[in-house]
Amino acid sequence: MAILEHLTALSDPVRCRVLLLLERHELTVTDLGAVLQMPQSSVSRHLKTLSDDGWVVSRRDGTSRFYSMASEHLDPSAGRLWPLIREEVTHTGAAGQDRRRLDAVLARRRAKSERFFASAAGDWDRLRTELFGAGVHAGALLGLLDPALVVGDLGCGTGEVSEALAPHVARVVAVDGSGEMLEAARERLGATDNAEVRQGDLANLPLRDGELDAAVLSLVLHHAPAPGDVLAEAARVIRPGGRVLVVDMLPHERQEYRQQMGHVWLGFSESQMQRLLGAAGFDRVRIRPLPVDPAARGPALCAATGIRQDVR
Ligand SMILES: C[S@@+](CC[C@H](N)C(=O)[O-])C[C@H]1O[C@@H](n2cnc3c(N)ncnc32)[C@H](O)[C@@H]1O
Repeated sequence: MAILEHLTALSDPVRCRVLLLLERHELTVTDLGAVLQMPQSSVSRHLKTLSDDGWVVSRRDGTSRFYSMASEHLDPSAGRLWPLIREEVTHTGAAGQDRRRLDAVLARRRAKSERFFASAAGDWDRLRTELFGAGVHAGALLGLLDPALVVGDLGCGTGEVSEALAPHVARVVAVDGSGEMLEAARERLGATDNAEVRQGDLANLPLRDGELDAAVLSLVLHHAPAPGDVLAEAARVIRPGGRVLVVDMLPHERQEYRQQMGHVWLGFSESQMQRLLGAAGFDRVRIRPLPVDPAARGPALCAATGIRQDVR
């Protein structure tokens, strides 16, 4: 029965994600490798299985080969099967991550087009990166911070966030529970006279009520068994009207991160983050996905901010 053969071809979730992408876009093996964060050899293997079963077609364009879904040539059983599978796959965290990386890959493709690079805008983008590096603005924009702020870097790790913040604010208090991380943070911040390192637990911070004007939790919350308690404790140490910034992963399906890196949560959806921050005593919550670097191997991130309520 043809439908059973189709089920075999689609039995791997990665192949379903490939089809979801190729249903709407023509992509090369390189594009797919960047979106799926997978070696090109694995992508080619999946494409071969899909192509042998009639799901994808390809065409050559100069030196590139573009793949797309054979939507108009599917046999009737495949045509009935795909909407069911599509419905399931579309709502997975992995497919959400793919969509974000696809946007970045398509943007890079646009920027690479000869017409763009022949233009003054293309020239300037290339020249700026050549002269000053990528992401030069990210550091400079910290100059917009109020220089009177006292900021907590909660779960500071090796202190990279504290190091970036310190030149722009009055004081940084970096807190972490791990002695090893704190040693690295102390070394990194040794020459910085307005950064202080304290050892402590995120659920019981070594900070007074309202001691901070703002706090950052960068790539920390997914480690917390009770993230609501950690945010409530952050709310305690931020003064009313102060701000929290949480940077964390959007939902993903890298189960292996639990064992490899001690992650408790496989990312947070925007609605989860909204609920957690609201329940912890933060108002005016704003959540923004962060731009995706196509060269990065990890899941896409978001930045969430909230203002500590006056009365709780
Ligand atoms: C992935 S690292 C992120 C470090 C840093 N914020 C960054 O963005 O590079 C997570 C850090 O959170 C700390 N951490 C996790 N749970 C903690 C807890 N309950 N109390 C204190 N620190 C904790 C870990 O020791 C680790 O340094």
